[in-house]
Amino acid sequence: MEPGDYELVRVANGAWTVRSRRDGETFHPVVGPVEEAQALYVRQLDLASRALETPGEFVVWDVGLGAAANVLTALRALEDTPARIRVESFDHTLAPLAFARSEHERLGYFGGYLGAVDALLERGESSWTRGRSEVTWRAHVGDFPDWLQSPETGRVPLPHAVLWDAYSPARNPAMWTLPTFRALRRLMPDGHRCALATYSRSTLLRVTLLLAGFWVGAGSATGEKEETTVAATDPAWVSAPLGKAWLERARRSTSGEPMAEPSYRQLPPSLATLQALERHPQFTPKDPCDPSDKLFAGDGMDMA
Ligand SMILES: C[S@@+](CC[C@H](N)C(=O)[O-])C[C@H]1O[C@@H](n2cnc3c(N)ncnc32)[C@H](O)[C@@H]1O
Repeated sequence: MEPGDYELVRVANGAWTVRSRRDGETFHPVVGPVEEAQALYVRQLDLASRALETPGEFVVWDVGLGAAANVLTALRALEDTPARIRVESFDHTLAPLAFARSEHERLGYFGGYLGAVDALLERGESSWTRGRSEVTWRAHVGDFPDWLQSPETGRVPLPHAVLWDAYSPARNPAMWTLPTFRALRRLMPDGHRCALATYSRSTLLRVTLLLAGFWVGAGSATGEKEETTVAATDPAWVSAPLGKAWLERARRSTSGEPMAEPSYRQLPPSLATLQALERHPQFTPKDPCDPSDKLFAGDGMDMA
């Protein structure tokens, strides 16, 4: 970390958050880190009930560890849940976490977790029992889209919840391409339940998630955004699925074509994209007699 790469900024509701000067991005603008993480991930992904229902470990992938606001807010929310929680955090740098650790008093969300953060920064791993939860937390440092395409994925338990918090697609396109989300979806076998939440509600993102093979729905407001996005491997975990009205708008969108490359641009959806959307089981009445009617990135949704 270069001195001055990160700074603290105060958002509209008075909370402090981290800003990357180099990337020109504020981590949790408007409502600040804790409120955003609670609305976007803790409540929307129903972390406590799903952790309770999941046999064995409940696995959370924290994509874009950054200053650890999301993950620490989630862990705090799970303290009273009698469950084994595993968090796998990903980032290509631990510098924002080290910076945030040094500013923990003003940031205010580290309470009780300084030891865990120090262990993560020193050893890349930390485990503890707190309240009724048993936690293992690991950090993976490297380029996440590259890692997703590597055999290393086989060494990490598959997620039940994904907190997707990259910088914006314009600033950070590699994290929002169709190959990236397809690689994520393909890791999950039939029957594996996983839901992902993210702050964007853009047509570009939603089309990308659908073409990657997820079921996709409108997510709740966060204070900053009036709507966000939830994607899941199981339609039961999408409470407000996108429907025909959204599909109609996507058809006319000027930015509905997924990015195949990590280079930001906006294009209307191509004919192939529109046809793939039409075939998505989310928009097609299901034939209960057709055993091939299943949604999986490796099957019918795999449009080159
Ligand atoms: C908005 S910040 C995350 C904030 C964080 N979730 C928190 O709660 O404090 C986005 C993070 O994504 C990371 N990032 C961006 N591109 C990445 C990539 N290609 N691979 C891994 N991490 C990446 C950045 O280093 C940054 O820490």
